[in-house]
Amino acid sequence: MRASEIRSLFLKYFEKNGHTIVESSSLVPSNDPTLLFTNAGMVQFKDCFLGKDQRAYTRATTFQKCVRAGGKHNDLENVGFTARHHTFFEMLGNFSFGDYFKKEAIHFAWEFITAELKFPKDKLYVTVFKDDDEAANIWHKQEDVPLDRIFRFGEKDNFWSMGDTGPCGPSSEIFFDRGEKYSCGKSTCSMGCDCDRYLEFWNLVFMQYDRSENGNLTPLPRPAVDTGAGLDRIALILQQTDSSYGTDLFQMIIGQTAKLTGQAYDSKAELAVSFHVVADHSRATTFLVGDGVMPSNEGRGYVLRRIIRRAIRHGKQLGFKAPFLHKTVSFVVEQMKDAYPDLIEKRPFIERVVLAEEEQFFKTLERGLSLLDEEMAKLDRTKTLPGEVAFKLYDTYGFPQDLSAV
Ligand code: SER
Repeated sequence: MRASEIRSLFLKYFEKNGHTIVESSSLVPSNDPTLLFTNAGMVQFKDCFLGKDQRAYTRATTFQKCVRAGGKHNDLENVGFTARHHTFFEMLGNFSFGDYFKKEAIHFAWEFITAELKFPKDKLYVTVFKDDDEAANIWHKQEDVPLDRIFRFGEKDNFWSMGDTGPCGPSSEIFFDRGEKYSCGKSTCSMGCDCDRYLEFWNLVFMQYDRSENGNLTPLPRPAVDTGAGLDRIALILQQTDSSYGTDLFQMIIGQTAKLTGQAYDSKAELAVSFHVVADHSRATTFLVGDGVMPSNEGRGYVLRRIIRRAIRHGKQLGFKAPFLHKTVSFVVEQMKDAYPDLIEKRPFIERVVLAEEEQFFKTLERGLSLLDEEMAKLDRTKTLPGEVAFKLYDTYGFPQDLSAV
């Protein structure tokens, strides 16, 4: 099943169950200084949860553009190295604003994955917040999930908050066991292990509180539901690929990038990390610039600049000697324009902004990289770059520290 089919199947299923289809909101949250970027499907509904915004509907469903780089949920450093982390991704979600709660949320999710997507039940596990007996009972009694497939975890894994403040609540996650072959091999590897074997692909949050700056939890006017499933993760499971980079969401972008640089892509080779980083960061860059974020030295623009620079650094590993990112962002537009038609009109603007940033950074890189290479040649492989060299690169040559560290 292609990603575009998963998107529409999801929306149709929830529409059939009384949900209104709502468009993805911008990656820049409107009127919300507490958040750097839209990091989950619930962000555009924050005020509905808080009872400050009444809509014509009490059930909604979306596929939402999200960025998790900078801020509370930050996956930047993991990108390229795991099968599942991205700076930009799409989250499929269903939401209830004081309408249904745990029973229905669990039922919808289970029916969708077992009846619509046809995931085998013997590969699925669920988790609940440590003292949420109610959710555990619903999984077991209502949906027949065996008790040994229901795990209980604490705050870190099963209590979801949008940011340091705002709506939050206990959650219940659904995992797919990808099998031994993806295990980290440690004797401790079991459900909940951070490796790529047990893949968390859907989080059901039972929104019950509003967290204030001093950490106090005030009950929401009406309990609500916020769920989020990673489109790329569902595609990975259905398309049975090693990582989300093997799915149709990424393959065209990676294939075109390989053609452009003249290097073959092999998902198992060392260079794959750089292909993945370039593909992931091209997606984030396309959508961020498309939503009006401009590279700069502070705030959102600084995170975008870091993403672009990290992409360029990895592009260099792939053999690019001149600006290329303005081309890979156009592959992203091609890939995504059916789901996000606004990209077609924005494309020339996105390409211009990216090219200007690239040209400037390539100059910095040329100087910094040759110095870095010289210094690295003086070290044996196990040694660390001395602090004063990293400082000189940064201070004198404007070469970002995180790039010296890549
Ligand atoms: N807000 C929750 C999450 O991002 C569920 O959508 O995981």
